[in-house]
Amino acid sequence: MSIISNSLKRIKPSPTIAVTQKARELKDAGKDVIGLGAGEPDFDTPDNIKQAAIEAIKRGETKYTAVDGTPTLKKAIADKFKRENNLKYSTNEITVGTGGKQVIYNALMATLNKGDEVIIPAPHWVSYPDMVLLAGGNPKIVKCNENDGFKLNPKSLKKAITKKTKWLILNSPSNPTGVSYTREEIENLSKVLIKNKNIHILSDDIYEHITYDNFNFFTIAQVSKLKNRTLTMNGVSKSYSMTGWRIGYAAGPKEIIKAISKIQSQSTSNPSSISQAAAVEALNGTQNFIQERSDEFKKRRDFVISSLNNIKGISCVKPNGAFYVFPSCKKLLGKKTKLKTDTEFAQKLLEKFNVAVVQGSAFGLDGYFRISYATSMEKLKIGMERIKSFCESLN
Ligand SMILES: Cc1ncc(COP(=O)(O)O)c(C=O)c1O
Repeated sequence: MSIISNSLKRIKPSPTIAVTQKARELKDAGKDVIGLGAGEPDFDTPDNIKQAAIEAIKRGETKYTAVDGTPTLKKAIADKFKRENNLKYSTNEITVGTGGKQVIYNALMATLNKGDEVIIPAPHWVSYPDMVLLAGGNPKIVKCNENDGFKLNPKSLKKAITKKTKWLILNSPSNPTGVSYTREEIENLSKVLIKNKNIHILSDDIYEHITYDNFNFFTIAQVSKLKNRTLTMNGVSKSYSMTGWRIGYAAGPKEIIKAISKIQSQSTSNPSSISQAAAVEALNGTQNFIQERSDEFKKRRDFVISSLNNIKGISCVKPNGAFYVFPSCKKLLGKKTKLKTDTEFAQKLLEKFNVAVVQGSAFGLDGYFRISYATSMEKLKIGMERIKSFCESLN
């Protein structure tokens, strides 16, 4: 009899973490690796936020807090939703966890029964399907192709819905493509969802603040009559360069919020008290650096897109958010190049030209790869040169 549980056997380790790990190993072995695989901003946490944490330690805020967040942080989150999304939540409609990842995981664990289906538009964040599987549910992956801007359309949504559908996960701006849903696109999806009363929507807004070209961000609870069926998840990791602090949160129906807290009470308890104090400052303090950092990301995005589209065999959609692009390498797969899959493409790129990217199949769509441009312009320049040389060596 295996010591490992059957439910764990249903899932695989995170492929993005695997790429980062492989790149780290090569670096440790003395290789000059350009890592374009990471899912975190390269900027430091702003000083005012760090200072708030130091002060919290000095005040002795080093004890357990309420399981699903301090009242002060919940109030800051409620204010954020009102100020930025025109959404009114009371503090018992809000939960705080150890990163957005834990919040999503807990939400799925708290709500899925065996066989329940979760619609996940692909390309998708790597963790959604595995979290669903771990919770006993069935991920229903809906491939969204490049011609649709990698976005779910109402027709495909309608087709994917069954009696067993419990959740739809929407992620905008998206990891891995960087594309974002417009207000109109969200409204059109809402029309389908309104008619299907048993479906809940998990809106993953973690990249809300990283958008370009005057893109107007909207979240589904704000533009539809679906607030009472939506769990709106967000966090400080990406917007405030706080990935290591591990604070994520969600707002939604009391029943779900309470269930998430119940899981947390029997697993990790509260997220770090010090990180919570830092998150209060992130949400309530100055927001100026968000624009500055987005401006810097935009420069990099423009550079990466134009570099990629100048490489024979590669083409790339220009997205308006997050810090990822999702180029196609389909033209470089096949007999001529002897590369069969995007995984082989990414492996050879790392082995031969020391550039770490993540294959599209890890995100549920073959023939692509994800580049994270959350790294310095200097490194991006070298990375793009190497990708060009690699692709030329295949042509
Ligand atoms: C789409 C998406 N959702 C959620 C998360 C989780 O973020 P956190 O670091 O807050 O756990 C990530 C992190 O990579 C992400 O890309």
